[in-house]
Amino acid sequence: MDEQLRDACDRYVTELFAAEDEILSDLRAEIVEAGFPLIHIDAAEGRLLQVLLGAIGAKKVIELGTLGGYSAIWMARALPSDGRLVTLELEMERAELARRFIRRAGLEDRVEVRVGVALELLEVLAGDGPYDAVFIDADKENYPAYLDWCASNVRSGGLVIGDNAFRSGAVLDDGTSDAGVRGIQEFNRRLASDPRFTSIVVPTRDGVAIALMN
Ligand code: DHB
Ligand code: MG
Repeated sequence: MDEQLRDACDRYVTELFAAEDEILSDLRAEIVEAGFPLIHIDAAEGRLLQVLLGAIGAKKVIELGTLGGYSAIWMARALPSDGRLVTLELEMERAELARRFIRRAGLEDRVEVRVGVALELLEVLAGDGPYDAVFIDADKENYPAYLDWCASNVRSGGLVIGDNAFRSGAVLDDGTSDAGVRGIQEFNRRLASDPRFTSIVVPTRDGVAIALMN
């Protein structure tokens, strides 16, 4: 399929399965207005996360990298009313935007935004585990460290999901010196070979790594 046709099929899927409501489209506009990077997941990936969380009956979920809360809102909408998503964000300003939209979406009972260094916050969160799923979408160089944490804190039958598994194609370069790309390469290699996981990368626009904990 040529690229134009691929794009048209992507739009077809998004319109049919993953139409945004006003809250999500307003959030996108505010992310731009605030000058934050527009690097959140797309709507189809949001829907994919909902399918995955629903499939395993997820109730306890962690997200690494909140940004404006776009993916958190998608995921929280797939949780039952007693489900909980804790989403971790390094930057206070981004967390504030996320909190405002999570409230507007009526999800404040289900979603908690914590601000700080993810690996430090995860140490605390380990005490409340095990978790059903973790969505990793933060600093790429720490993906392997996040995976280590997941291996110890996600239940059997739970999911580890990693965004940007292709890193815009940079993962194909074995000689890369980019720490973020190397982090994702290591993450993907471990998902592929570690017998504790059953994994695949779904070739969305930038690849989504999905690992089932055995
Ligand atoms: C970047 C990070 C992301 O998580 C993403 O989905 C796209 C881009 C980035 O750091 O550029
Ligand atoms: Mg991402």
